[in-house]
Amino acid sequence: MICTLKKILKYSVLVLFVILFIYQIFLLNNGKRLISYDNLSEIQIAKLLSNAKAENFKRISNVEKICRYYNIGKFKTKNKATVIYKEPPTPHYEIFYYDLKHKLSWCPVYKAGSSTWLYNFALLGGHTDEQINNSKLQLSHYVRNIFPPLTSWEAIRILPDTLKFVIIRHPFERILSAYRDKLENLTPDDKSESRFYYKKFGRKIVSKYRSGGNNTNTKFLLKPGQFKWDTNKSPIGIEPTFKEFVRYLIDTDLTTRADDHWIPFYLYCTPCTLTYDIIGKVETMLQDQLFIIHTAGLQNKIKPHWRHKTNPFNQTNSHRISEIAKIYFTQLNKSDVKELYEKYKLDFKLFQYDETEYYTYAVN
Ligand SMILES: *[C@@H]1O[C@H](CO)[C@@H](O)[C@H](O)[C@H]1NC(C)=O
Ligand SMILES: *[C@@H]1O[C@H](CO)[C@@H](O)[C@H](O)[C@H]1NC(C)=O
Ligand SMILES: *[C@@H]1O[C@H](CO)[C@@H](O)[C@H](O)[C@H]1NC(C)=O
Ligand SMILES: *[C@@H]1O[C@H](CO)[C@@H](O)[C@H](O)[C@H]1NC(C)=O
Ligand SMILES: *[C@@H]1O[C@H](CO)[C@@H](O)[C@H](O)[C@H]1NC(C)=O
Repeated sequence: MICTLKKILKYSVLVLFVILFIYQIFLLNNGKRLISYDNLSEIQIAKLLSNAKAENFKRISNVEKICRYYNIGKFKTKNKATVIYKEPPTPHYEIFYYDLKHKLSWCPVYKAGSSTWLYNFALLGGHTDEQINNSKLQLSHYVRNIFPPLTSWEAIRILPDTLKFVIIRHPFERILSAYRDKLENLTPDDKSESRFYYKKFGRKIVSKYRSGGNNTNTKFLLKPGQFKWDTNKSPIGIEPTFKEFVRYLIDTDLTTRADDHWIPFYLYCTPCTLTYDIIGKVETMLQDQLFIIHTAGLQNKIKPHWRHKTNPFNQTNSHRISEIAKIYFTQLNKSDVKELYEKYKLDFKLFQYDETEYYTYAVN
């Protein structure tokens, strides 16, 4: 009796050692590849990956829960009468970037880590840093030339065979980023992109929402401390203020007239119609990028790179309101914030973002 028990014990220990040994080799190999392009230790990387995996599972489950709750997309049931939100009937297959070789499909949400992934796609397409940097084309056009859009038929066929991912960001941070990038910093150069946005949106916003009309200089509408223009440019004075832009968003039917930079996520990437494998977030970019790269097996092709200088292990950082938002939200009053929230409420619910702190920066 005791003899058999001893034998079992002996063999168990042996098996355990073999497993440990294999695991070590696995760890070392993986570690080497990663450590060569970053300073994180293997243990840190393993920790980030396991965090990302658990978090991703929760995100995907939550999206499904919310889609069911609001009765939209493929979770729609006929017996529930109320439909508040409507997704487009099919995904916008034409906006995706598909890399068939590496089996990757990405829905590019602008102002949410999109330049990082455009750059990654260009690298995956076999282009070098130099080629990409020296191109005169806008990055999105450059990458579009490498990965042309697919027809719906092709897309439907290949999508299940690819890793489908999207990167999301706090809706208010994204709106502010779009405003600052496209509408606020107007340049005198008539051919610039900001002029294009001024003609298409800015001018109309100002003529509709500015008391005193479009002759009132933007900066006279704002108190010091309510804005932060790029220091190397002085404002022209005809740009819409953030408040005017927010009023415009509130009054506009975003299901039919939204620019790609501020269209709600649910209308653009249709998460209730198309199930993503990975939902990344700008706020947890470090671990999510690692997770995407690892899941797709691209460790040797692209490096995770991130612009965030915050400690990646400090999760308390990840949902914080940005310093810039604290400045701009003082232009709004609490009912502006409430109305803006209502406009983007589904995005907040789908991706579990919180709006409460923004009220504290708005005026009464
Ligand atoms: C990462 O390691 C390299 C050398 O391996 C070093 O030059 C660099 O400063 C390190 N970066 C950080 C952020 O610690
Ligand atoms: C190209 O640009 C990227 C991002 O701006 C930079 O990190 C990289 O060093 C550049 N590479 C070359 C070869 O110019
Ligand atoms: C200001 O508004 C007037 C009347 O709507 C318009 O004719 C003019 O072009 C506008 N000026 C600018 C700079 O948009
Ligand atoms: C995490 O971030 C918060 C907010 O930025 C900061 O107060 C805290 O000291 C940080 N903790 C660590 C361990 O870095
Ligand atoms: C908040 O601002 C809006 C205009 O953006 C205005 O219509 C509304 O009356 C203001 N609400 C309060 C409570 O001041």
